[in-house]
Amino acid sequence: MTDVISSQAPATGAQGGSEDGLGPAVTKAVIPAAGLGTRFLPATKATPKEMLPVVDKPAIQYVVEEAVAAGLGDVLMITGRNKSSLENHFDRAWELEEALQAKGDLLRLARVRKSNVLADVHYVRQGDPRGLGHAIACAAHHVGDHPFAVLLGDDLIDVRDPLLSRMIDVQRRSRASVVALMEVPREQIHLYGCAAVEPTGEDDVVRVTGMVEKPDAADAPSNLAVIGRYVLHPRIFEVLATTAPGRGGEIQITDALQTLTDASGEGGGVYGVVFRGRRYDTGDRLDYLKAVVQIACDHPDLGADLRTWLRGFAADLTD
Ligand code: G1P
Repeated sequence: MTDVISSQAPATGAQGGSEDGLGPAVTKAVIPAAGLGTRFLPATKATPKEMLPVVDKPAIQYVVEEAVAAGLGDVLMITGRNKSSLENHFDRAWELEEALQAKGDLLRLARVRKSNVLADVHYVRQGDPRGLGHAIACAAHHVGDHPFAVLLGDDLIDVRDPLLSRMIDVQRRSRASVVALMEVPREQIHLYGCAAVEPTGEDDVVRVTGMVEKPDAADAPSNLAVIGRYVLHPRIFEVLATTAPGRGGEIQITDALQTLTDASGEGGGVYGVVFRGRRYDTGDRLDYLKAVVQIACDHPDLGADLRTWLRGFAADLTD
């Protein structure tokens, strides 16, 4: 199969790269977590939505684990007011650790410690909530002049269907920016950023020719939705700095990426990796409930019993 991407890529770039002609390694992940979580009120009145449990871990831990599994051990969270429990979760909890140690409860001790040692987690506060593009722009100083990943916490990707490592591979070959795309029914496209695309020589990779944030179904250029994973060239920061507020009066990452689709030179261009694996949306109450049930059904300790119970429960439902 023709490798369209690497044949378009320059052999070397101003950012340097590895000896095999690939762009620089991607080592940093940015996780925007400054949202107010209004869809989950009152549960999120005093608890960040990122801390809502999905079975037995807070949602944000799945996202950090995904980043780490893709080799991104440096995680920057973009937070805001009332997010201190996020920082506590990724820090030592020595009283708890001592109590579990004294009881000899090593299993729970390991569970408690896992989030402290998972990644090197940093925080920056967004201040004004001016949109996802603005949140990502807050990472500029930490990220510097290197490609980086962005993971949105409302989307959980099943560890058995790796997406991020494939996106990193495409980013390093293309030295462009890369978004994750998924086919959705037309009537749902207004909930997402949407991409106009053309094929490359690779089945799961497309070249993005245009992007629009949450279009009406009638105006959508495709049924390919941007799901919450991006691997971005640092040129995005320069573009974000001059991106005017768009849909909802917010600075949209989709609009900045639209600017890059037809930009030439270093860091120009956008590719899409079309994901066909398992994704769990936790963005609203119903999707969250479905995600919890799906993930719990696969849980090593709980799955078998839950599946048995669910079969009986479903059989007794009357409508
Ligand atoms: C954001 C992005 C949108 C993307 C979506 C994926 O929207 O703006 O382009 O499709 O995440 O989850 P939000 O869901 O935060 O409104």
